[in-house]
Amino acid sequence: MKRSEINAIMRKSLKFLQQMHFLLPPFAHWSPSDWKRKGPECRDILDQQLGWDITDFGSGDFDKIGLFLFTVRNGQMKDLKDKNGKIYAEKIMIVQENQITPTHFHFQKMEDIINRGGGNLVIRLWNSTPKEGLAKTPVTVAMDGVKVKVKAGGTITLKPGESVCLPQRLYHRFWGQAGKGTVLVGEVSRVNDDHVDNRFFDPVGRFPEIVEDVAPLHLLYNDYARYYGCARR
Ligand SMILES: [Fe+2]
Repeated sequence: MKRSEINAIMRKSLKFLQQMHFLLPPFAHWSPSDWKRKGPECRDILDQQLGWDITDFGSGDFDKIGLFLFTVRNGQMKDLKDKNGKIYAEKIMIVQENQITPTHFHFQKMEDIINRGGGNLVIRLWNSTPKEGLAKTPVTVAMDGVKVKVKAGGTITLKPGESVCLPQRLYHRFWGQAGKGTVLVGEVSRVNDDHVDNRFFDPVGRFPEIVEDVAPLHLLYNDYARYYGCARR
């Protein structure tokens, strides 16, 4: 993806988030030069992988296959071993009409996907086989405390206010329903490390290669190491 495209998505997303009354934390608005001046007090932002995360999954067409994410809070995988560890995470996502997030599951992360407003979110579901294929068995998920059963590869639709709990190793693929508008999607989950926890059914790139045609407006999570002096201990 070109940096100019990422900057444009950031600007558009900030407008949508404001319209939906979902406000981002202060570090969302720091510039690259702000980051250069930050000290060790900000180290959690890097260690917990917080912040901007915009990807086209290597498709080259963000509007068709892509996702806007911002990690609002998270722990670290090592927290899972500590009985007082920060073992939860929260993300906010923006999903456009017909914009696909490709089929994937998480090895460790259980996640609640929540429609926080706007359009409708369609999610296609499959159980996985022990060899990480798509199972043919029916899928049962809990939607706001109510168990729902769909056939393998069947869909559920989350309207504003509705949510679903997706357990580990349950394949899912989602997009915004055509004609209903852009969707603000929340995610409340176990602690998350996107570098190791995602199994995509088809090979995709979780983080995009970036062509630096202009300066970054705000840093993506993967940019911190280049601008933040405390990134290397
Ligand atoms: Fe997921």
